Amino acid sequence: MFSYPCPIGSNVSPSVSTNTQTSNLQTSVAINEPHIVIEGGYPLSGSIQVAGSKNAALALIAGTLLATSGVTVLHNLPNITDIADLVAILNSMGAIANLSQGNSTLTVDASAGRFNEPPPHLVSRMRGSLQLLGPLLARQGIVRLAMPGGCNIGARAVDLHEKGLRGLGATWTIDAGCFFAEAPFDGLIGGAVYLDKPSVGATMNTMMAASLATGVTTIENAAQEPDVVDLANLIVAMGGLIEGQGTSRITVTGVESLHGCEFNVSPDRIEAGTYAIAAVATGGDITLIGADFNALSPVLSKLTDMGAHVAQDGNHVRVWSGPVQTLTGTSIVASPHPGFPTDLQQPFTSLLTLVHGTNTIHDSVYEGRFGHIPYLTKMGANIKVEGSVTIVSGVSTLSGADVKATDLRAGAALVVAGLAANGQTRIFDVHHIERGYQELCQRLRQLGARCWHVNVSDTDMLVME
Ligand code: UD1
Repeated sequence: MFSYPCPIGSNVSPSVSTNTQTSNLQTSVAINEPHIVIEGGYPLSGSIQVAGSKNAALALIAGTLLATSGVTVLHNLPNITDIADLVAILNSMGAIANLSQGNSTLTVDASAGRFNEPPPHLVSRMRGSLQLLGPLLARQGIVRLAMPGGCNIGARAVDLHEKGLRGLGATWTIDAGCFFAEAPFDGLIGGAVYLDKPSVGATMNTMMAASLATGVTTIENAAQEPDVVDLANLIVAMGGLIEGQGTSRITVTGVESLHGCEFNVSPDRIEAGTYAIAAVATGGDITLIGADFNALSPVLSKLTDMGAHVAQDGNHVRVWSGPVQTLTGTSIVASPHPGFPTDLQQPFTSLLTLVHGTNTIHDSVYEGRFGHIPYLTKMGANIKVEGSVTIVSGVSTLSGADVKATDLRAGAALVVAGLAANGQTRIFDVHHIERGYQELCQRLRQLGARCWHVNVSDTDMLVME
């Protein structure tokens, strides 16, 4: 870490004009705002340990509320702000939740069984807080939850969460900006739930609520994401009865009580995939330690299609390639697991901006994941958006610029672009990125990147770490 005097009040006012739906975007940023600064053009090289999965961890933390007795210990949590916020929510609800081991281990005692309403100002910070609905309804028969927040990437409806809980006999209303669900007098009753889309969150909420219901619940067209499997495995380790996790048909047999247990969070395939994409975009050679090769295969197979190389040795995954300009193009359709993950389509778009030819990206999960595009255009990318399809024509170079992270994965896309660009990129609104990437700049420096997180200290020094 080092520091230099902060030029308080000095402003840069980039004007971003694009040919996309978000054209004529104007931004004004002050460099005394926290930001990430990247000197681009250095190939990533070396190895890093993959962090625990953010999306799995959020669901698992909510899942700890199901334990009617004992203490649940979660290991391998990522050290990111979303986790800290959800732990704060649990504590303000009256559960006893303590982070330790550098925030990688969480101990939760939820045996009290009656909880306060989750505080709206924290709930509104992330979509993951929606996962509190299922366990709270199961434990206390009634739940009131403020509207969750999270990335602004499309409509993000909640009708399937409602459908799942109604399928177990609950009533559901929306009142004064809050969701309100109530179980029948004798508790939730297992039922047949068909999800019109394989929603990750709705599958998880239904599974959690059903685990303490009376009787058997089947969830058809369930999400198959590894995060759903992690949550099902936690509930099984707590004494629950779940089968079919990882397939489109999950069966949950309700039990009377669940107990605490110890559980390891799976590696984050989105974090690992982001580093893999960045390695290829910079012509680098990295090894991801503790990665789940199978969970990464949708993105790794695209990288090898393009001419990059991938090798697996146990839980070490090596990714390397020649200069990005030597790669061949590919098109992407982001879709539910095991399809290409929507959370990686934005970083992958940054890679494609430097690949010869014209390629398309279609996100079939979210209709509005385009926040990165005006800023990639500002950096010199040639991108058009037609409906829900992004059309990228490769350019020979990107140039560093002042840009803003409009959401978590848009921020990741700008990091990839900044690493591959010529010159300096400064990324503002970094709080979005901090929601999901543990120690991003330190890890990138470990891989040879020139990348710092810049903060303003109490003494008006710019602190770079
Ligand atoms: C989770 C992840 C997110 C990821 C997404 C898809 C967390 C905290 N977030 O979000 O990073 O991008 O899975 O892999 O785990 N939908 C409805 N009605 C509903 C629920 C969802 O129509 O009730 C739609 C959504 O608008 C979206 C699609 O279903 O188009 C998928 O959403 P879903 O799988 O539920 O995503 P999340 O669980 O919110």
